[in-house]
Amino acid sequence: MEITKAIIPVAGKGTRFLPATKETPKEMLPILNIPMIQYVVEEAVDSGIKEIIFVTSSGKESIENYFDINKELEVFLKNVGKEELYKQINKIGLLVSVQTVRQKEQLGLGHAVLMGKSFINKGESFAVLLGDDIIINSNPVTKQLVEVSKKYNNSSVIGVMNVPKEKTSKYGIVAGKEVADKTLHMEKMVEKPKPEDAPTTLATPGRYILNQEIFAILEEIPRGAGGEYQLTDAINLLAQRGEVYAYEFEGKRYDTGSLEGYLSATIDFALEREDLKDFAKEYIINKAKEL
Ligand code: UTP
Repeated sequence: MEITKAIIPVAGKGTRFLPATKETPKEMLPILNIPMIQYVVEEAVDSGIKEIIFVTSSGKESIENYFDINKELEVFLKNVGKEELYKQINKIGLLVSVQTVRQKEQLGLGHAVLMGKSFINKGESFAVLLGDDIIINSNPVTKQLVEVSKKYNNSSVIGVMNVPKEKTSKYGIVAGKEVADKTLHMEKMVEKPKPEDAPTTLATPGRYILNQEIFAILEEIPRGAGGEYQLTDAINLLAQRGEVYAYEFEGKRYDTGSLEGYLSATIDFALEREDLKDFAKEYIINKAKEL
């Protein structure tokens, strides 16, 4: 069965970006002139996803509007002869089919994913991408995970990346038995372990392929760390009851939900862009001389 749906939770409060997120969803903050959520949605679309289910909350309406058609703007751009901009704007509106569901209380990532339950059919697998994590690679990360899922009988697959030992307490960390290059048969996942307690340094930044079975587990788990319904707890139970794999993906990850990740992405993306790279390079070099 093809994986054509993705749940993207975007209901969080984005407190690390206050005051900007008082009125603007964190996911709509741009890296240069492209909102971070567009990178995430494009990764999904480039991985074969045809339908996005945004898990939203009050004040996040601009996200679904962004992926809708804005006829007035398109007509305006055509009339003033801005053909290239028109094409860009038109493409965003046609990119993918979007559904939204509200998470009325922000009770954690596990709870957010559960909100997407009615969109997923029995036995169907789906992708989950966090709306504030950008991962850049010519072969999109979600596509890499879809391929691993297919290889292992449509099993659930968690995207993992190696992190320095001292950073394990910032992530869910997985452990398991290596079954192929970069692939683990997952035994357990530990939420934010101290470096001395971490079973490995394989962290889960926010890319998953999950089977519909996860919803029954999400309904059954109690609140976990921080009083929130943790996706980690549900994945642990899923691994005990069935097959879950972890795959060390290829790609450069930016945690654009943090100020440091946001800044790194802004600098790197400017240095990659034809129209900005010379300016960015010169500016950075001159600035560094002043420091
Ligand atoms: P974060 O904890 O990074 O996001 O959750 P946040 O709560 O928006 O940000 P801070 O920590 O206050 O700055 C990771 C992702 O999960 C979503 C968030 O929107 C984000 O994309 N999320 C988290 C939900 O949708 N619902 C929740 O209850 C929690």
